[in-house]
Order: sequence, then C-alpha cells, then structure tokens
Amino acid sequence: MQVLIAYHSDYQHTQSVADAVAAGVQAALADEGETASVDVKQAADVNLDDMRNAEVIIFGSPVHMGSMAWQMKQLIDSGSKLWMAGDLEGKVGGVFATYGGFGGAGGGVEQTLMSLHANFLEHGMLVCGFPRSLSGFAEAGLHWGLAVRTGNDEGMPEGVSDSALVAARAYGAHIAETALRLK
Ligand SMILES: Cc1cc2nc3c(=O)[nH]c(=O)nc-3n(C[C@H](O)[C@H](O)[C@H](O)COP(=O)(O)O)c2cc1C
Repeated sequence: MQVLIAYHSDYQHTQSVADAVAAGVQAALADEGETASVDVKQAADVNLDDMRNAEVIIFGSPVHMGSMAWQMKQLIDSGSKLWMAGDLEGKVGGVFATYGGFGGAGGGVEQTLMSLHANFLEHGMLVCGFPRSLSGFAEAGLHWGLAVRTGNDEGMPEGVSDSALVAARAYGAHIAETALRLK
C-alpha cells in the first residue's frame, strides 16, 4: 500500500509527529502482511504524482495564526488539477496538527484540522477522525484528527510528549487499518 504523509514543519515538532504517524502506519501494515511504501515529505517537496500514486494521503500542519501553514495551503491549491480529473476520489485521508495552544484554548487547532479535512472531502476522499478508543486520545486526540500541543502554559515551546507520540502511532495505525478494510 502506498502512503503519502505530507506536512510542513519549521521547528521539527510537526516533523516528529509525522514520523510517529508513519511508524504507526508501517507497523499496522506489517501486522497484516501488507507491503508498505510510506513517503514522509515536506509539503514543498510533494508533487502531484506523489498524490496521484498514493492510496492513502495524510496531511499535517503546525497551526499558524489560527489556521494551517501557507505551505500546506499552497500544496492544496496546486491540487486543483487533481480535482478536475477526480484523481483522488475514493482515497483514504487523515489529518494532524501541532499547536502552541497558548491560553489553553487550542489556538485554532480544530479549524486547522477541519480545513485540512475539507480539502480531502472536496476531492471525494474518505476521511478518518480520531476515535476515542485509540491510545493517546486524552493526550492528543480530537474527534477530527490528531492534535499535538507543543507549547507550555507560558506560551513557550515545550516539545512533543511521549504520550503524544503514542497517539500519533495509534492514529497512523488506525488510518492504515481503515484503508486495508476498504481495499
Ligand atoms: C508564525 C507562527 C504562528 C503561530 N500561530 C499559532 C496559533 O495561532 N495558535 C497556536 O496554538 N500556535 C501557534 N503557533 C505555534 C506553533 O503552531 C507550534 O509551535 C507548532 O508546534 C510548530 O510546529 P513546527 O515545529 O513543526 O514548526 C505559531 C507558530 C508560528 C511560528
């Protein structure tokens, strides 16, 4: 199964979450004896064929000023050609975001996840949320996807916790298992 994880990251938080999601995908596919090709790429390095060829596409972004990083939006907008041809219809998608969360109110992480999903839905893809039965739900699960808080209560970067990485692996596994069931 070909899986593309496209993300943007300036300071490695989102990248480390992307790597953990990839590890979860790989572990789940290996458990089912499915050959896996998992590409983990910065959005700026993704081309349209990467998206065309993937059976599963996972997008991840840091929250920037209440919404996704512009690098993700640039990739999304470049995908309008794929929409014209219906190239992504029926593929499985998942979304994740990291956020500072200063003030504890989420700082736009829900909006970021929903707008990433909106693009997948526009393409006719099938999207995965984060079921509360998955490991790590209390730490980094939102019904809409994986949301990893990386800041502390003073608004300073604190890093990605081990329990958030557990949630990231669980989410990757969940998306892969869902795609396998549909295959
Ligand atoms: C330009 C910029 C804008 C940001 N805006 C927000 C925001 O609106 N809400 C929030 O919760 N965090 C915000 N953050 C914090 C980042 O979302 C957070 O540090 C994230 O984990 C960074 O990911 P990265 O290390 O992969 O770049 C912002 C960070 C930057 C650099």
